[in-house]
Amino acid sequence: MNKKIILTGDRPTGKLHLGHYVGSLKNRVKLQEEENTKMYIMIADQQALTDNAENPQKIIDSVIEVALDYLAVGIDPKKTTIFLQSQVPQLAELTVYYMNLVTLARVQRNPTVKQELKSKDFGESIPTGFLTYPISQAADITAFKATHVPVGEDQKPMLEQTREIVRDFNRIYKKEVLVEPEIVLPPKNMGRLIGIDGSGKMSKSLNNGIYLSDSKEKVKEKIMKMYTDPNHIKVSDPGKVEGNVVFTYLDIFDKNKEELEELKKHYQKGGLGDVKLKLRLNEIMQEILEPIRNKRKELEKDKYKVYEILKKGSEEARKIAGQTLKEVKTAMGINYFDN
Ligand code: TRP
Repeated sequence: MNKKIILTGDRPTGKLHLGHYVGSLKNRVKLQEEENTKMYIMIADQQALTDNAENPQKIIDSVIEVALDYLAVGIDPKKTTIFLQSQVPQLAELTVYYMNLVTLARVQRNPTVKQELKSKDFGESIPTGFLTYPISQAADITAFKATHVPVGEDQKPMLEQTREIVRDFNRIYKKEVLVEPEIVLPPKNMGRLIGIDGSGKMSKSLNNGIYLSDSKEKVKEKIMKMYTDPNHIKVSDPGKVEGNVVFTYLDIFDKNKEELEELKKHYQKGGLGDVKLKLRLNEIMQEILEPIRNKRKELEKDKYKVYEILKKGSEEARKIAGQTLKEVKTAMGINYFDN
């Protein structure tokens, strides 16, 4: 069987939340156990800086938080290489060559970038690095010859861009140096977890998240504030299940599906209070989050060790990316001093 190479990553812009956990982290923990599979997880600090040039400290501080979250959920550095993008300069060098294969019109057409440009309010002052980050993302992926890239729906255009670069490079230089990666999307209802206020997906900007580092009390407080059915006022009132965040979460996290179906019926009929449901959800969530929180607290005591893991991972990543870069430059004929 051919070896599966997985590369994925996150921009370090804050701590990770439950949305990250169900949408990607949990799956990564599973993937690292697969046979014939090598996984690389990149903390994309360089990419995060493309729209945070004025606020670099936020990114620097978030690197360790993201690393702590990774390790706390069970990503194992013995099995998975965790590395820091900025510490692998070969990625930047690859980016420079790939840039020649992509037109300005092409980067401007990327729907995810377009969307971000709209929401970020750059106006006329779009950083060049931001506009071109999908090209650097192609470097991240191809440097490791990744065959599979597990990411969210919003990253589809990045994968398309990467595949185009791979095809163009291999065609122009008449050599199959680069590998076309496949996107691996999360299962349907696991895509993007709704936030506790029901207003949209869980995100820092909406301030509607439950964080993996939140205390027991904080988690409970957030669950007790969760959006349910605004028309379910008295316990005896019939309530709505659709759009009710508590039920959305129970659907995902409650293992006792039979009982859950009973609860839904009861709620719809009337006579089942929100508090009772929320307490049930709280119990389930605490059971999931407590071991993560405890492990994170343990790791926090020795951040030096966590940085060591990132350092070692980055060294490994440099080796692999360096090999690909060498092949790329050889294919391009710019390996002047090899003989
Ligand atoms: N763009 C990704 C995000 O915002 C992060 C990222 C950077 C990434 N490079 C990558 C993801 C390479 C997968 C592969 O989440």
